[in-house]
Amino acid sequence: MSSKIVLTGVKPTGTPHIGNLLGAIRPAIELGHQVLSEGGEHFMFIADYHAINAEKNPQVLNQKLKEIACVYLAFGLDPNKSVFYRQSDIAEIPEITTILYAYTPKGFMNKAHAYKAVVEKNQMAGKPDDDGVNMGLYTYPTLMAADILAYDTDVVPVGKDQVQHVEIARDIAGIINAHYNKPLLKLPEYFLAEHVAVVPGIDGRKMSKSYDNVIPIFADKSEIKKAVFSIKTDSRPMEEPKNPDEILVYQIYQAIAPQDKVLEMAEGLKQGKLGYGHIKNMLLDAVLEATSEAKEKYDYYMNHFDEVEEMLALGASKARPIAQKTLKRLKDAVFGR
Ligand code: ADP
Ligand code: TRP
Repeated sequence: MSSKIVLTGVKPTGTPHIGNLLGAIRPAIELGHQVLSEGGEHFMFIADYHAINAEKNPQVLNQKLKEIACVYLAFGLDPNKSVFYRQSDIAEIPEITTILYAYTPKGFMNKAHAYKAVVEKNQMAGKPDDDGVNMGLYTYPTLMAADILAYDTDVVPVGKDQVQHVEIARDIAGIINAHYNKPLLKLPEYFLAEHVAVVPGIDGRKMSKSYDNVIPIFADKSEIKKAVFSIKTDSRPMEEPKNPDEILVYQIYQAIAPQDKVLEMAEGLKQGKLGYGHIKNMLLDAVLEATSEAKEKYDYYMNHFDEVEEMLALGASKARPIAQKTLKRLKDAVFGR
């Protein structure tokens, strides 16, 4: 990643859980630190234009935006080093998007995951293909391409579901560069963190807010405890030696506890020395341990959001001039100025 421009966008999706923390938040922040230490640049933004496709309640949107901003700050994003901003503060992004539209084959949008998933759901339900589809959802990858291309991004770290969108951004940039026969836009690459494990939820399926099986990060201790103690277990007695890999509590523990504690739990289970109540308490401690410092910061920022607004304004003031340059380059080429 040396001297690379790395950009990550997050949708404001509400109160995060352990899966989000380990699968998205921590890796993004760590990668940011790494990139910066190697002399590169790190852009991190909240994709609120993307969010309005699905969420139409301003209060809910605003609350979710606040939560996600405070979560990233609480877990160590440094807004003085990373460029941390809100998508809707960068007026050049929709302008760039409009130019990209003219070079984006409609077929790219037809095959994009976010749209196709809704069409498939509609077909299953016997509804018309485009039921509930707005143009924001349909053209989602073009806006995302503008987000990426505006800053001459080299690398976009993503989860599997977003790989295709980065490829679309690259293809659109390629079409424009080929048309004008010059490198107007940098071709981005995606970076897929393969090693990031999927954290199981309290019912054994993937932890996800849509399954209602999450361990929340910043809830009260009693709520976290309730989630941890409702993790599925069987009725085998403590003394019976168990294979740790078959125990759900252990699988979640592996994702969050330090290595030596994980070994301790594994040994205790193998030797029949640890009961389910005990390992659930160990997991509860590990969750609190991993989140308590961040929770204090989170609460602080949520209660002093004016400070966060200043950080986002600082980010926008750094991001906009770059997007303006890209927009000018594009307009000069497109309009022959
Ligand atoms: P949810 O499944 O709760 O709706 P999102 O789809 O909003 O979560 O995911 C936000 C980010 O968190 C994505 O980058 C996703 O890969 C990551 N993530 C979500 N759930 C998990 C999980 N159980 N394990 C690892 N990463 C996860
Ligand atoms: N589509 C991404 C998601 O759902 C969020 C996003 C918007 C994004 N623009 C981006 C991610 C640009 C990376 C780069 O998670």
